[in-house]
Order: sequence, then C-alpha cells, then structure tokens
Amino acid sequence: MQVVTTEVAEALAAIVAGHLCAIPTETVYGLGADATNRAAIARVFQAKNRPVDHPLIVHVANFSATRHWISGLPDWAEKLALACWPGPLTLVAERTALATNAITGGQDTVAVRVPNHPKTLDLLKDLESQGVPGLVAPSANLFGHVSPTCAEHVAGDLGTYLAEHGDLILDGGNCSVGIESTIVLATSVQPVILRPGAITAEMIQTITGLAVSQADKDAPRVAGHLASHYAPRAKVRIVTNPENESFIAGSALIALKNFETPEDLVRISMPETDSDFATHLYSAMRQADDLGLTNIYIVTPNESGLGVAIMDRVAKAAHDKLEVET
Ligand code: TXA
Ligand code: MG
Repeated sequence: MQVVTTEVAEALAAIVAGHLCAIPTETVYGLGADATNRAAIARVFQAKNRPVDHPLIVHVANFSATRHWISGLPDWAEKLALACWPGPLTLVAERTALATNAITGGQDTVAVRVPNHPKTLDLLKDLESQGVPGLVAPSANLFGHVSPTCAEHVAGDLGTYLAEHGDLILDGGNCSVGIESTIVLATSVQPVILRPGAITAEMIQTITGLAVSQADKDAPRVAGHLASHYAPRAKVRIVTNPENESFIAGSALIALKNFETPEDLVRISMPETDSDFATHLYSAMRQADDLGLTNIYIVTPNESGLGVAIMDRVAKAAHDKLEVET
C-alpha cells in the first residue's frame, strides 16, 4: 500500500483501524492517532522517538467537540476559541477523564485545537460521527527536527516507519501558516502565551479585552516546554548586525526580500512579508540541509506581531543541542 494518499476516506479507515495517519493543518503536518486508542497513542511516541512525558495536542472538529476533552473554560477563552477556530490556536485547559495521562503526560490539563484545513476538518467530522471524538497529533517530524510543512517532509522523516506499519500520510499540500500554533494557557483569569504563533498577543488582547502575559522563559516549565529545538542539521546563525558580520562563504541565507544578499552567500529564501517568512522558514531550513550547506544565516523580521513567533523558532533552531523540542 502507498504511504501517501489524498483521500480523506482512506485516512478515516486507517485511523479507525488503529493506524497512524499524518494530517495536513494550516500550521504544520501532525502525526495523527485516535485519541481514545492507547496503543495508537503509544505508537505516535515510538514513531517520533519522543519521550512519553511530552504531552500531545488533541485535534477536534469544532468548538462543541472540545467538551469531550476540556472540563471547563473561562469565558475569555471561549470567546477566543470562537473567534480563532478553526485556526492556529491551541488552548490548554482542565481535562476530562477521557484526556488520559497517555495524552497529557500526567498533567491535569489538556491541550486542544481545531485546525484549519479542509481535508483534516472533514476527517475530524467523519471520525466524530464514527465515535472517535479527537485525534492526538504532534508535529510529524522526528524528535528534535524541524516541523514538516508538506507531505514530502513527513515522508522524509517518518516514511519508512509509517510504511512498515501500514500507516498513512494524508497529503493536503503546503501548510499556509508554516509554524506551529499559538499555545494559550486557559486555566485562570488572564491568558498566558506558552508558545507564540500566528495568533499574536495583540490579537488575543483585542479579542478578549484582557492583558496577555508570556510564559516566563526562566520559570520552571512543564515537560515538553523544556527549551527547545526545531533544528536543521546546519548550524543556524542569527544575524543581529549585518554590517559587522563576517559571513562564512557558501553559507545559506534566509532574509526578507529587501535585505541584499552579501557576497558568497546562497540565498535560499527571500520572503516579502513576515507572513511569507513564517510560511517558508522550515522548508528553507530543510532545503539548506538538502543542498549540503552547513551554516544558515537568518536575518529575522522585527520582533513584534508574527515576528515574535518567528524569532522564537529561529532562536530554538539556533540553540545548542542541549535541550530538545518535540
Ligand atoms: O500547530 C501545532 O500546534 C501542531 C499541529 C500539528 O497542530 N502541533 C504541534 O504539536 O506543534 P507538538 O506536539 O509538536 O507540540 C505541542 C506542544 C508541546 O510543546 C507540548 O509540551 C505542549 O504543546 N502541550 C501539550 N499539552 C500541554 C499541556 N497540557 N500543558 C502545557 N503544554 C502542553
Ligand atoms: Mg513539535
């Protein structure tokens, strides 16, 4: 059997039979499994080589389906969800009994989101009508690697494992957002951003009318937030002062279009906007590896709006390989 399909019906049959199926979302591809099937959840961790105490996000078809997983939400969080879903927002909230330790890594909260991709929304709706109220889906990359933004990336990281186990990849084209969802802690009176993304702090403040805080980088964090790594093989070097940088010849460069390519660098991405920057960031990093380039210089956009999330991911990719993202 082929590993890649474009048919939602095939993905549905695979999940119902207890198989894994990588799913397209607007952010990145996820490695999906029936969130009520313990054996399938265990295989998600096995396929990615991910430590089992790193909690998973449950993907559901619509706001109403969150009731299976979340026991209660503050009013502001419900308002935020209704405004942003389907979309690149994940809420972390108090869990129901269905949200087992296998999903939450033993925590008393669960992460839930409604992704915005037509095929995956169809799949989630069909699954719900067959008694499967959600899919766990971590990013469909090997532990520590860059998240996948197209089916080919998933196949590159996990294709062999999936083929050996009769699992599938549902091909839904390129991801439009390109970086993982904004994760918001929704257990108290104000929103706390645990991971920045395309739903920005400014947007959350406008929608909820509340002050928004960012998780303190120095505070002890739950498993899975331990600092992080979405890294290519090449060394990522953040350019803060281009005039004074002595670039290593033959290195890759990712920068906005208005940044002129210094001599001897290989321009692998020249997005026009911050949004394009995010969309192509991970594929550009993978391209540098495919070209055998060993250094990637990245000139990040201003650190406001979406630029906050871009800087977060670039900093993680540039981080020494001490701590790991999943
Ligand atoms: O855009 C996304 O969110 C993608 C797509 C596939 O939906 N998914 C994704 O999943 O990025 P993953 O597993 O790679 O990252 C999920 C993050 C982890 O950092 C994990 O620690 C955090 O969500 N998380 C999950 N449950 C949590 C919880 N109960 N409390 C705090 N953080 C949690
Ligand atoms: Mg991940």
